[in-house]
Amino acid sequence: MSKEQFQVDETDGPAQTRAWVLHPDIKNNNSRRDSAPALAEAIALAEALPNLEVVGSDIVPLRTVNAGHLFGSGKIKEIGVLLHDNEVELVLVDGPVTPVQQRNLEKAWDVKLLDRTGLILEIFSDRAATREGVLQVEMAALNYQRTRLVRAWTHLERQRGGLGFVGGPGETQIESDRRAIDEQLVRLRRQLDKVVKTRALHRAARAKIPYPIVALVGYTNAGKSTLFNKLTGANVLVKDMLFATLDPTMRSLELLDGPEIILSDTVGFISDLPTELVASFRATLEEVLAADIILHVRDVSHAGTEEQARNVRDIMTSLGVPEETRSFEVWNKLDLLPEEAAEAMRERAARDDGVIAISAITGEGLETLQEIVATTLQGAMRVADLTLGFSEGRKRAWLFSQDIVVNENQTEEGFELTVRWSADVEAAYQRL
Ligand code: GTP
Repeated sequence: MSKEQFQVDETDGPAQTRAWVLHPDIKNNNSRRDSAPALAEAIALAEALPNLEVVGSDIVPLRTVNAGHLFGSGKIKEIGVLLHDNEVELVLVDGPVTPVQQRNLEKAWDVKLLDRTGLILEIFSDRAATREGVLQVEMAALNYQRTRLVRAWTHLERQRGGLGFVGGPGETQIESDRRAIDEQLVRLRRQLDKVVKTRALHRAARAKIPYPIVALVGYTNAGKSTLFNKLTGANVLVKDMLFATLDPTMRSLELLDGPEIILSDTVGFISDLPTELVASFRATLEEVLAADIILHVRDVSHAGTEEQARNVRDIMTSLGVPEETRSFEVWNKLDLLPEEAAEAMRERAARDDGVIAISAITGEGLETLQEIVATTLQGAMRVADLTLGFSEGRKRAWLFSQDIVVNENQTEEGFELTVRWSADVEAAYQRL
């Protein structure tokens, strides 16, 4: 069947690509992921792509991985019939697929095929909104392509080695492709450095304003943007789609009866985030590393909420979030739970200092959330007595400009001041 014969669903708007999701369940693979939730997540990921309709999915048990085709020949035939009957154009494999396997399966099934990293990259490139996000996605995509070329190249090299000759048009092509990608990567890296530097400057300028940073982190679709909007009244893109936020968004906000803070919304995490993406998105998550308080938002109405939380914690650890950063779990979407289960969550949250139960939609629990953040920040404030000579007028003026002076006495030598400040402001003062 040729591609032209595929039917497209024209009933609602733009053409929909018909996709099929396969989750290879590899035996002896010590992955902690259970197949059913993993497949459900892969489908949710696929549905995050625009103009795509997931028409079916399967878990494919695999005793061993076939080096050339991933699946065994019987399975390939069996799946092929399914794909053909369902007029599938795109197959998404929830796992790594080598370039050779990809080519062979595409040929056998007459479809386009994407593996997990390819799929995530597609979603990321669809969502990236700021210059920095776009650059990071481009870099991750290029790095990915580069490893594919390297792998294809290793494969060719092995073949040629057997034939006993070096060089040839294939090699030249791959080498020049690799060079082109490397040049492109260097260019992108330079631009990204510039963007990151500008951001660092902004941060440095902001560090002079003694607002603590509160960062929202969490699994994709947990409700971070919804909470961010509810608290700040901002209109950040909120959609029931994964990775609606690919760039951190920051707003200042005055807590109820509390200090002013900067609230930062971040990209959502997913399980098994390909390592090349973790590295690329590090800069996007820099704000989290600098945060005074981390709010880990969880969708407690989701069946996989425990596993999602574990994934988020693992990623935070791998990002190097300092252990002493104060963090809370925000159990969101209470309104979606049956009343009894919601009540049980409220009770658990009331007993546990580290947990706040809320609904970002109904607003339940948001006052408590703000109180807890405010109290935590107050606790982080220290009182100090300073003595300044008359010649230190600049320092004195700075302290007043920060609005942290509680008391001041003039003496014969100069001034005695009492200030209330956070560790950050104290550090900024020491640098004056
Ligand atoms: P990413 O950008 O993918 O990381 O997602 P996010 O964590 O920012 O999630 P977002 O705020 O976009 O919310 C995802 C979906 O959950 C949206 O459809 C929201 O309306 C919905 N949602 C968020 N909070 C609640 C809640 O408390 N109750 C209910 N019923 N739905 C919620």
